[in-house]
Amino acid sequence: MELVVDGNCFVAGRMQKCCVGIEGGKIVKIAKVLEGEKVLNFGNKLVLPAAIDGHVHFREPGMTDKEDFASGSEAALCGGVTCVLEMPNTRPSTTTVASIREKKKAASAKSLVDFGLFAGVKPGMDVEALAKEAAAFKLYMGSTTGDLLVPDILEVKKELARIARTGKVLAVHAEDENLRRKDPENDLEGHLRNRPNECETTAIKTIRNAYRGDRLHICHVSARQSLFEVKGRTGLTCEVTPHHLLFDTTSRLGALIKVNPPIRRREDRQALFQALKGGSIDMVASDHAPHLLEEKEDDFEYALTGTPGVETLVPLMLQLVRENHLAIDLVIRMLCERPGEIYGLPKGRIAAGYDADLIVVDMLAGEYIKADKLHSKCGWTAYEDMPAIFPKAVFLRGELMVENRSRVGERKGRDIVGST
Ligand code: NCD
Ligand code: ZN
Ligand code: ZN
Ligand code: ZN
Repeated sequence: MELVVDGNCFVAGRMQKCCVGIEGGKIVKIAKVLEGEKVLNFGNKLVLPAAIDGHVHFREPGMTDKEDFASGSEAALCGGVTCVLEMPNTRPSTTTVASIREKKKAASAKSLVDFGLFAGVKPGMDVEALAKEAAAFKLYMGSTTGDLLVPDILEVKKELARIARTGKVLAVHAEDENLRRKDPENDLEGHLRNRPNECETTAIKTIRNAYRGDRLHICHVSARQSLFEVKGRTGLTCEVTPHHLLFDTTSRLGALIKVNPPIRRREDRQALFQALKGGSIDMVASDHAPHLLEEKEDDFEYALTGTPGVETLVPLMLQLVRENHLAIDLVIRMLCERPGEIYGLPKGRIAAGYDADLIVVDMLAGEYIKADKLHSKCGWTAYEDMPAIFPKAVFLRGELMVENRSRVGERKGRDIVGST
């Protein structure tokens, strides 16, 4: 065996002392004892599948003062994420074959983690050609960062019918543009009044009733009423973000957590948490949306929406495990297994045949989140000083890429489309 990783591994649904045998970047064998050319023994530390972040914005091309594939992927990696799905609301937006190929070129040259690119839904798009390049499709029903708004889905009726036939996931930013208010807003409550709960819940019902494909995914579910609309329906999956789980309108972070859909009331946050615990949420994704601090420190009203989070996603979830709020198998299901299944990746499990994407965790080594130790270009985090558990080591396809929160390996990330 080329490489053997020995530790307390999450295999077949539980933690067990064993060895993971790796060859050519893949897990080939799991056994109590394995011999290898190289053996890394992590003792009683946890060896878990690395995470797949199903929702990030790396801002390249067009907004590379905020982030690019190099900085965004280094942040991902150091946070225990070895695969990201990157959103199309860049400049230009990723809605043509030329623009997706251009983005892919930049990502292939710079990314330290594997990646899949979303194609944005727009009237007149070449669905079949884009389906060959894109990991999935993304529809924006409500306005947010970028210019991909489709306020009335009748405008893209034909395109949606064609997407349904590709078998790819259609992911949706579900906020009903027509129920959005445009009153002046000075704080989180004001932003919430402009994008009330029904704005999200109505949009979910609209797309659910209109879309004929069997792979519909609702991004960043945030309102308690929406939970009934996404629960237990075949072909419909959903995600929640750490910021909607951890913050509500009583927070004093102001514009730093001005996001779409908005941070909501305590009842909503608690309902999301209960749904998560009950297993009705498929994945937790960061919606990593870096903006510069000066774009956030403006008047609340003009502050851009979005908050960074790819590097803190796994550490915050592990902290919830440590505090006994969530079970580790549930967290692994939502950060690794389900995103792997939903996007059809050979990742997210420690099992033979899967990519050797692993993280090593010491549950007793808690730290406080500090922006100056994070790797996003934006340079700030809404989670400053919150306790978290960062991975001690991170492997991408069998190569050790991170040790003690900094990069050591050389492996390049690759597109998940056409490489597996
Ligand atoms: C995201 C961004 O800035 O790209 N902003 C946000 O508030 N979540 C876009 C999005 O996911 O809606
Ligand atoms: Zn969104
Ligand atoms: Zn987003
Ligand atoms: Zn707690």
